[in-house]
Amino acid sequence: MKIMVIGSGGREHAMVWKLSLSPLIDKLYAAPGNAGMADLAECVDIKANDLTRLADFAQNNSIDLTVVGPELPLTLGIVDEFEKRKLKILGPTKSAAEIEGSKVFAKEFMQKYHIPTASFKVFDNPNQASDFVKSSELPLVIKADGLAAGKGVVVVEDEPLALSTIQKMMVEKVFGDAGSRIVVEDFLEGEEITILAFTDGETILPMLSSQDHKRIFDGDRGPNTGGMGAYAPTTIVDDRMMKTISEEILEPTLAGLKKEGRLFKGILYAGLMLTERGPKVMEFNCRFGDPETQVILPLLKSDLAEIFLSIVDGELSLEDVEWDDRFAVCVVVASGGYPEKYEGDKEIFGLSKARLMEDVLVFHAGTKRQKDRIFTNGGRVLGVTAIDSGMENAIQKAYMAIDKIRMDGMQYRKDIGHKATWVKKAPW
Ligand code: AMP
Ligand code: GLY
Repeated sequence: MKIMVIGSGGREHAMVWKLSLSPLIDKLYAAPGNAGMADLAECVDIKANDLTRLADFAQNNSIDLTVVGPELPLTLGIVDEFEKRKLKILGPTKSAAEIEGSKVFAKEFMQKYHIPTASFKVFDNPNQASDFVKSSELPLVIKADGLAAGKGVVVVEDEPLALSTIQKMMVEKVFGDAGSRIVVEDFLEGEEITILAFTDGETILPMLSSQDHKRIFDGDRGPNTGGMGAYAPTTIVDDRMMKTISEEILEPTLAGLKKEGRLFKGILYAGLMLTERGPKVMEFNCRFGDPETQVILPLLKSDLAEIFLSIVDGELSLEDVEWDDRFAVCVVVASGGYPEKYEGDKEIFGLSKARLMEDVLVFHAGTKRQKDRIFTNGGRVLGVTAIDSGMENAIQKAYMAIDKIRMDGMQYRKDIGHKATWVKKAPW
């Protein structure tokens, strides 16, 4: 069969790599793909948000299944467009993708279905929002309602920052319409983890737990990024905690979506804070995480194409999903200056040496190929994943692989996965 993966980052490279191991697959396409995916898939020069051209391509090339990496095409309604044309696609419909596309919707949905989350208020008026923060205890968290490329969430610790954030989002409209409404919510303390789950709309199966490292610098300092590294599984989520997460969060979320007629077939991402009073949802996404996917899929023993097909056919079952019992660590290599201004077009050396290491995978994110040479083409450039039976060894191996890679301005965190070695117990 022929599968098309939509997207161009490390997450999509990991999907393409895992799918390429399936005996069911004759040909893979990636739209638009990147230099790493080009080794395994035919890259098609169509942007991820060009829904009509993607559907035309799938139709004209008899693609058997399309899977979507990033959120934008999902929130724009790519699943509805494909289904209208009777093309098979994996992902939530536009109305189900609202769980990521609108923070206001997600919070009100959680409130309605009693899914644990921080207390919140919604504002569409900047004066009322400002009055509220002036009379509240800080810190608070201010979130733009719509998609804002991962920059629409600000933890405000003092009043001047709270007021200037409201001003920027609602008056100056730095995120455009995405900031017309905001959510102001309580600040949660605890350990932040990610739970991804496969769902066919009827059954929901959590994957291994993982943890992202969102800040740019070691020790979780500096501005937020798209994610500087991840590891899986976490030690903090034991079987009991996973059961709580399934029963209190995943199952009621699916039931709520179903009740509202919002069809979700794909991957649900729950960004959770494990607080002293149990797990609470900080955000839902309607897709795989990046870089969590780069540690989850290497630990998946089952055939990903088979899982995807069972989801699309509404036949997902526990037997479909089997996990490796080892650990995976992914360290992201970024361009110098990221997440602020950075230069592109730096040649990357040593990739083949790193790739030759056993149980090491080099996923490309922002890269491009010029003849036989690979150059940087984005903020996050690579995700280097290592797998081992112990977390410490996996960490060491990932950094040994990184040592073989060179490029001008290269930056990466030196402490990815270290938390796993000390956050062993849940905080209650
Ligand atoms: P989100 O996109 O909603 O996950 O927010 C991005 C980041 O902001 C999260 O990964 C957290 O580190 C932080 N964050 C979001 N909501 C909260 C909250 N209620 N309390 C504490 N931190 C939060
Ligand atoms: N790792 C964060 C995200 O994928 O949204």
